[in-house]
Amino acid sequence: MKVAAFSEFGGPEVLRAMEMETPEAGGGQVRVRVRAAGVQPFDVAVRQGWTPPGVSGDLPRVPGNEFAGVVDQVGAGVTGFAPGDEVLGFDLLGCYAEYVVVPAENVTPKPAGMSWEVAGGFTAGTQTAHIALEQLGAGEGDTLLVHAAAGAVGTAAVQLARSRGAVVIGTARQENHDYLRSLGAVPVAYGEGLEERVRAAAPGGVDAVLDGAGGEALDVSLRLVKPERIVTLVEHGRAAELGVQTTRGVRLASRLAELAELHVRGALAWHVRRAYPLERAAEAHREVEARHGRGKVVLTVG
Ligand SMILES: NC(=O)c1ccc[n+]([C@@H]2O[C@H](COP(=O)([O-])OP(=O)(O)OC[C@H]3O[C@@H](n4cnc5c(N)ncnc54)[C@H](OP(=O)(O)O)[C@@H]3O)[C@@H](O)[C@H]2O)c1
Repeated sequence: MKVAAFSEFGGPEVLRAMEMETPEAGGGQVRVRVRAAGVQPFDVAVRQGWTPPGVSGDLPRVPGNEFAGVVDQVGAGVTGFAPGDEVLGFDLLGCYAEYVVVPAENVTPKPAGMSWEVAGGFTAGTQTAHIALEQLGAGEGDTLLVHAAAGAVGTAAVQLARSRGAVVIGTARQENHDYLRSLGAVPVAYGEGLEERVRAAAPGGVDAVLDGAGGEALDVSLRLVKPERIVTLVEHGRAAELGVQTTRGVRLASRLAELAELHVRGALAWHVRRAYPLERAAEAHREVEARHGRGKVVLTVG
């Protein structure tokens, strides 16, 4: 099968088209012919040399932890899925590929009204946002501050928090402010003067923060709310000493099904910024590494 993989750690250029043996579904697993896969900051870290816990040090390594495609093989004991089923799902690595093999618990049916590009990049950002909001408990009457609100996690977090009844302030560059308004957030520019701008946008105060940016965003947040009312997705090193939360929840097919249902009902819009063919994964990484832009970058697998 075709994959995009790297044999040495490094810059985006180490990510290349390669051929690998097509995996077979074992007991409890499904094999999926991938149609699209999401590209994440997580994948960039993997390419740069970070090995997620529990992963062998072997190279070449195929990044990618979210995908959508068509089930083409089911292992012994799998009851809920059959060849031909359209699904979306997740794994730790390995999704920049023509085929993935995952436990059947890692996939959920793709709603008919969801495009392949949306489905391929839908899993990680939406589930992360959902988990973070569960921890923060932000709801009716609360004002939530979302840093990096135009990104993948932010796009989902703004909409999910709005549907729970919270007022949402989102940080982004000026050119993404209309986008944030369209999601339901009050936009605020990041950079010097951030704290004053947030205070002006939230005269009643901020109740909770989802930090998708780190650095200045976290420093300012600590002056606005108690540390335990912050979830940071970025500053894992500083979180414990500061008393700030990191995400504890796990990805679940049931959670994903709920979020996909919200999407097809029109309650969770998902913006695909750009789709690259699998062979151009290095360009997709360059774009994600630049850390600017709206919504999600995906790879399409022809
Ligand atoms: N995706 C996941 O499931 C997941 C899971 C766990 C952790 N994380 C972490 O969460 C962070 C966000 O992930 P993502 O997938 O949403 O990233 P992303 O889609 O690549 O989004 C990056 C966003 O960051 C914004 N940004 C850049 N610098 C900023 C700053 N100083 N202040 C505020 N916003 C800024 C950009 O907005 P502008 O274009 O307006 O600059 C852009 O929209 C990453 O650090 C990632 O590693 C992600």
